[in-house]
Amino acid sequence: MPSRRPYRAGLKRLQKQLLSWYRRNKRDLPWRKTGNPYRILVSEIMLQQTQVVTVIPYYRRFIKTFPTVLSLARAPLQKVFKLWEGLGYYSRARNLHRAAQAVRDQWNGIIPNTVEGLTSLPGIGRYTAGAVASIAFGIRAPILDGNVRRMLCRIFAIRKDPRQADVQDRLWTLADDILPEKNVGDFNQAMMELGALICLPRTPACPVCPVRESCRAYQAGIQDRIPVRTAKKIIPHNTMIVMLIRNGQGLLIGPRPERGLLAGLWSFPEMDGKDAMTPRQIEKAIEKRFGLKTDLLPPLDPVVHTFSHKQITYYPFLFNCVSTKNRLPGPWQWIPLDKIADYPLPNATRKIFDQITIDRLPLAAETPTLYRTSKTIRREKRHA
Ligand code: ADE
Repeated sequence: MPSRRPYRAGLKRLQKQLLSWYRRNKRDLPWRKTGNPYRILVSEIMLQQTQVVTVIPYYRRFIKTFPTVLSLARAPLQKVFKLWEGLGYYSRARNLHRAAQAVRDQWNGIIPNTVEGLTSLPGIGRYTAGAVASIAFGIRAPILDGNVRRMLCRIFAIRKDPRQADVQDRLWTLADDILPEKNVGDFNQAMMELGALICLPRTPACPVCPVRESCRAYQAGIQDRIPVRTAKKIIPHNTMIVMLIRNGQGLLIGPRPERGLLAGLWSFPEMDGKDAMTPRQIEKAIEKRFGLKTDLLPPLDPVVHTFSHKQITYYPFLFNCVSTKNRLPGPWQWIPLDKIADYPLPNATRKIFDQITIDRLPLAAETPTLYRTSKTIRREKRHA
């Protein structure tokens, strides 16, 4: 790895160029109009793993609903999840809610103003603590996210995979070295901004980059080969069967398990789809699990969703419930169609639900059943 010493001379110039570029070119983002630590914290949590354009409307709605840390702390968790719906990585919502309660209960309702205090809160790691400490409190704390990592790799021409632990440590040191004594909040945001607008992953816009003279990768003409990329991890692919069971009262939905994928959200009953199943077998499984007899309706479209660690294809099936008794096990509930949207649903669940509410399949009693139980057929014959 290159030595840092010769670089020191150029450091002040780089800081100045980057700061002045930022002040002229920064995007007008809602969390940049405030010095309020709570709002900055909310924005930084939302911006973990999510792009600025996606975050903006979520941030606005969230701050409008929960304008203070105390209003968030006393809100029901389900309301927080509802506002987070579609943003993904839902553990962030649960942790942010817990963090607000910790601020209320352990910090007298005041967001801590040190990196140590911030990292003691649920869901706040070194990066988010550094961002909030520097932006909201002007504390000289480094940050290292994907954008900053890429920029530092290029500026210092680091030819090793930045995901390796030793390279990661080195990058944190560089992120600290490169920070000026003053204007740290602006400087950290300038790094994020340059990474998002100029120092792009595939085609960096070097000709308009304010720090190209200080960039060793650019000087050596190797900027498009840095950061070094090793082969992408192949993520597993699973299939799930989703059962949309309707009766006169609505559709069957329930809260997902407290732990695991999409915890805290609500969805339709699901089954692992790794073993192929006939419609009849699915109806049998529904009967076993819920004590309900059902008839299958025409099929819905599969929905594919990619998570950070796996991809799932959901195969949704719509069923008419033909049982009269409907005492449901556990937390499952019949929810009227026009109330389903009040519950926090995962993206894939919402896409499935939209198929029956928006387009093809009005929930009319005449919808033909594809597979009918013998009991239904007998009943139909009786009424013919
Ligand atoms: N990504 C993470 N934090 C950010 C911020 N404050 N502004 C823009 N992008 C960001």
